[in-house]
Parts: sequence; structure tokens; C-alpha cells
Amino acid sequence: MLKIGLLGFGTVNSGVYEGITDTLPYLESILGTRITVEKILIRDKKRYLGEKNSELFTDSPDDFFSYEFDVVFEAMGGEQPALDYITFLLSKKVPIVTANKELVAKHGSNLENLAYKNETFIGYEATVAGGIPIINTLKSQLQWTSVEKISGILNGTTNYIITRLQAGSDDFETVLKEAQQLGFAEADPTSDIEGFDALYKLQILCRLCFGSWPKPEQFQRSGMSHLKSCHFKAGEYFNLKLKYIAEAYYDGTDIKGSISPCFVDAKSPLASIENENNGVYLQGDWLGNFFASGPGAGKRPTATSMIEDFLHQLQKSGNQPRVPKLKKISKLECKEFLLVFDTNNETEVYHTLKEIIHSVEEVVQFDNNQKVAMLVTINELIPLNNTANEKVEFYPVLRVNGKVQKTKANKQLKAL
Ligand code: NAP
Ligand code: HSE
Repeated sequence: MLKIGLLGFGTVNSGVYEGITDTLPYLESILGTRITVEKILIRDKKRYLGEKNSELFTDSPDDFFSYEFDVVFEAMGGEQPALDYITFLLSKKVPIVTANKELVAKHGSNLENLAYKNETFIGYEATVAGGIPIINTLKSQLQWTSVEKISGILNGTTNYIITRLQAGSDDFETVLKEAQQLGFAEADPTSDIEGFDALYKLQILCRLCFGSWPKPEQFQRSGMSHLKSCHFKAGEYFNLKLKYIAEAYYDGTDIKGSISPCFVDAKSPLASIENENNGVYLQGDWLGNFFASGPGAGKRPTATSMIEDFLHQLQKSGNQPRVPKLKKISKLECKEFLLVFDTNNETEVYHTLKEIIHSVEEVVQFDNNQKVAMLVTINELIPLNNTANEKVEFYPVLRVNGKVQKTKANKQLKAL
């Protein structure tokens, strides 16, 4: 008999419960044993009185931890008390499957070591990119492969918001509420729209691709709640799509990266990732470009990752953390930026930036001549989300083949 415990019963773990109970005979046939959900810990029992099997629910940690479990699925979120609970369970050799990316990004190193020391495991497939099986692909199918660069859309809520804004909605708050109602957003959606959630996921991917757990200070992070229809229009003039991109690479000394709104070549697979879907690009020296896309958030896709993660961990031998070959990035590609600023700032902006601008490719005035969008190449690689100049917004332009491509912006618009 395999006894399961659930920490939390929100979007993710209610999906895990339904996934297990709806397919029980099949899952039992895969595992070759009977399965039972023993206990579910939540914060406030009253909220779960209407649930089937309400006797399984407890809001007492002492009661929950008085049971014996063969595996515990954690989807409460946040650092504490999740960290204490998981530490306690791993010390008792109980395997853990978690969706909690904040916990893994901040404490993954200790938790992996604790699991290894106690000959058990902590699976965290569901922490990155919802239903896309990227973590275990890296752990099992890409063990020998060096990764030079990671880039991707790693947050479903913000990609959902961007898709709706791109389609014409200009009310950020309304679309954010939709994403919350659909179960995509974090308990505090600041984590989504300010890029913390994507940062945690990027840190976890870096651990697997570059072999060490990077600190948040190694990344630049810009939020996306300021985006309005004018930003999407600016991209359209240059055949570019605005996306919220996380990227990281190893520069020979350190892991570096950023989370920021970027303009993506319309031909890039990332440009066509819509709604809550995510896309992960891995650039490898032997592999070339590997791209995986799929649902990045939501109950069923994330529950799929949790259940598959459990099966994967059970079936693989040993739990030694992946030790990748470290590969310095061969070249840093992004030298092209789209600058967006108000028309009345144009002389000042141009004056302050002329030192770093190598060439101005195209300039358009738009939004009733209130705004300027300027496609430029720069002399040196400045930080991707450089916002040092308050009068101008910088957006990196990501091209499919890395080369700057001249586009024909609308010639009828007045050039600078
Ligand atoms: P959620 O819907 O807010 O559910 C959280 C659950 O955890 C609730 O049942 C809550 O109980 C319980 N809980 C919270 N704090 C607790 C505590 N101190 N003690 C006991 N129970 C507690 O959250 P979610 O969307 O399922 O997300 C959970 C985790 O999965 C987060 O780390 C999130 O980042 C991650 N994740 C989410 C998604 C997604 O699409 N939603 C996808 C991938 C990963 P009460 O109702 O009693 O407060
Ligand atoms: N809030 C997260 C997102 C959930 O929107 O991507 C999935 O990790």
C-alpha cells in the first residue's frame, strides 16, 4: 500500500488529488500496489467542508504529521512553513514532490543534499513551466549535453496578460483578475508581474544547465505592469512581438541573466506562444537549439507534472544531483534594442544615448505623434533591461538567427 500526503489543496494539489483518484486502477497497475490518499493539510478546514472525503482534511500540522506517508506532494507555496515541513519529511526519508519554485530556488541546494543524504528524493518538475517536462528532460535525457544559453517565456500569468493586451484590451487589472480566476497567478500576483516567479524558475533551470544555484543578484529583473497598447504598437511597426523573456548564460566567470519585456522576432517560436503557455529554448554546442512549449500554468497541466515527476523519481536509480559540463557562451548576440520614449524627450534622449548607439536603423512616431520608437544597434552589450535613463524604455530585440535585420517601418510616419 502506497500512502500519500498532500500539503495544500489549492489549484495544484486539488488537481493532483483528482488525477490520482480519477485514474486509480491505472496508476495502481503502473506502481504494482494499492494507493491511498491518507491526509491533506490545509490552513482553514472550514473552507473545505464541501469537498468529497472532507474527513481527509486537517488544519492541524500535528495531526498531519502523526500519519506515516510513502510520498508527500507539496503545493502550499511560500518559504515557510513549507521549508520546515519538507526538511522534517526528508529527514524521515519521505520522498517529496513539490511545485513550490520559491522554496526550491531559495533552498534547493540544501534540500537536494538532504534528500541525497537520506537516500530519498525531492522532485521539482512542476516548479518550472507548468506541464512542460523540462526538469526531468535535463536530468535524464540531456545529461551529457552542455547548455550555453537558456531563454524562454516562463510565466503563464504574464504571457496571458500580454496576449490579451496585444489583442486590444488595455485594462491590465481586468486581465490580471482573469488570470487569477483561471488559477494561473500566484497567491500574491506581484510575484508574477514583477518577475520574481520567472526568476525562481530561471534559477532552477540554471542549476540544472550550469551546475550551481545562482543568487538573485546575478540577474536583472524588470516588471511588466507598465505595458500598454502603445508598446505593442511600437513592435508592430518593426514586425516584432513583445514578450516577457527570462534568459541566462555562463560568461566564463559567472552565471548572468535577466527577466524583462523584450521584443522578439515575429519568426521566433517564442513569438507564437500565447495565453498561459510557456516556451523554453536551450542553446547547446552539440545539440543546437532545443525548444519545448506547452501549458505553463493551471490545474491539470501542473498536476500532470507532479504525478509524472513522482513516477519518474521512483523509476530512476539514485538521486545524485545532475552535474553538467560547464560551457561558456560562445557569443553574446543581442546588440539590437527598441527604444520607446515620449516625443517631447527626443532631443534629450538622443543626446544622452549617442555615446552608446552604433547605428539607428529605423525611427517611427506613433500614438498620435506622442511616442517615438527607435530601433538601434549599440556599441557594446549593455545590461538587457537597462533603465538608467528614466526618459527612455529599453527593450532587447531577440532575432531568430541572432542577426540584426533591417525592417521597413511605415515610411509615412514622420522620421526623427
Ligand atoms: P493555491 O491555490 O493558493 O493553494 C494553496 C493551498 O495551500 C491551499 O489549499 C492553502 O490552504 C494551502 N496552504 C497555504 N499555506 C498553508 C499553510 N501554512 N499550512 C497549510 N496549508 C497551507 O496555490 P496553487 O496555485 O495551488 O500553488 C501552490 C504552489 O504551486 C505555489 O508554490 C505555486 O507557485 C506553485 N505552482 C502553481 C501553479 C499554478 O498554475 N497555480 C503551477 C505551478 C506551480 P487554505 O485554502 O486553507 O489557505
Ligand atoms: N503563477 C505561475 C505562472 C504558475 O503564472 O506561471 C505556474 O508556475
